[in-house]
Amino acid sequence: MRKFSLPILGLGLMFLAACSADRDPKLDTVKRAIDHARCQLTQAAAEFDTLRGFPRSLMPKFKEVDPKDWTSGFFPGSLWEAYRLTGDEQLRTAAERYTDRLEGIQYYKGTHDLGFMVFCSYGQQQAALGDPHSAEVIVEASKSLISRCDPQVGVIRSWDFGEWNYPVIIDNMMNLEMLFWASKHTGDSVYRDVAVRHADITLRNHFRDDASSYHVVSYNDDGTVESRGTFQGYADSSAWARGQGWGLYGYTMCYRETGDEKYLRHAERIADFIMHHPATPEDRIPYWDYNAPDIPDAPRDASAAAVISSALFELSTLVPEAEGRTYFDYAETLLLNLSSDDYLAEKGTNGGFVLMHSVGHWPADSEIDTPLNYADYYYLEAIQRYLTLRGIDPQQL
Ligand code: GLY
Repeated sequence: MRKFSLPILGLGLMFLAACSADRDPKLDTVKRAIDHARCQLTQAAAEFDTLRGFPRSLMPKFKEVDPKDWTSGFFPGSLWEAYRLTGDEQLRTAAERYTDRLEGIQYYKGTHDLGFMVFCSYGQQQAALGDPHSAEVIVEASKSLISRCDPQVGVIRSWDFGEWNYPVIIDNMMNLEMLFWASKHTGDSVYRDVAVRHADITLRNHFRDDASSYHVVSYNDDGTVESRGTFQGYADSSAWARGQGWGLYGYTMCYRETGDEKYLRHAERIADFIMHHPATPEDRIPYWDYNAPDIPDAPRDASAAAVISSALFELSTLVPEAEGRTYFDYAETLLLNLSSDDYLAEKGTNGGFVLMHSVGHWPADSEIDTPLNYADYYYLEAIQRYLTLRGIDPQQL
């Protein structure tokens, strides 16, 4: 083995000392967040194992759900993300265990949420392990998902409940990512074709002139619009914060997958709406709805902030450098503020969830100012994207 001579060793130590003196405090914040996440998720995975379900939220008390719930994939997905951030094998075995419980859901045709349920769990497992079984599950789930697209209407139907004829919610943009993956994996364009048509029709019908979106657009059987409104937002005409995040993330992803400039332009317009909205508080974590009547006393939605942060990190890589910098800086501000004591839970508290202070469904008086498993999922994804963009290996932090 080659030995360092003393002068070289001395120089090396000086270099290391300089590095630690200059160490970016933002990295310490992120390192602490990863450590909290590892601790919280390890505890939750062990504690809830016997329940056979998936932890979802804490409001009004601990809520655990079965595989058919739209959020079932986020807890396994968070375990995978935490595993990829830490290399902790205990997290990996827990991730596999919880992912396995979702196997049957690939055949479920009762919701559009299959993308969330399967791609956040099996998709993460596939990315981590490259295993053929996960790929088969994802492809089967994609078949189930496109079965919900009536060719006459041209979009994937979101829900089978309610008074609407054919409801499609902005959240549905998130489920398209699985379809793009399925086409790349199988070489069959059928999944991608459905995704592109869905994205195009949604672009036409879901957005207002200021690029904010309606939550629910319902269609008539001939594909014309039956109604535009909301389910989870404050009002039909309001901008529900998480919905703006879903749209931003969805069109950014569609541009990544297709290279179609109209998706990029649209993602930029949504980003502009979010980043320059006058009802944005100083720490940038949005109120649950941009038009909530009790702003500045309205609850914040950490889940919206996490989705927006993750999406903006990706968008920052798809545009010219100066523009990308503004997206990166905004996303970083969100990430660091979510990682502060205002939102990041103390270890051993918060029911094992990582973040506090999200809003699930205000009009139903459900899950208000509570942890939510999808806030944790997109927060961990944002951390991963942040470190990748900075060229930092999370396990060497
Ligand atoms: N997909 C439902 C929600 O965002 O709450």
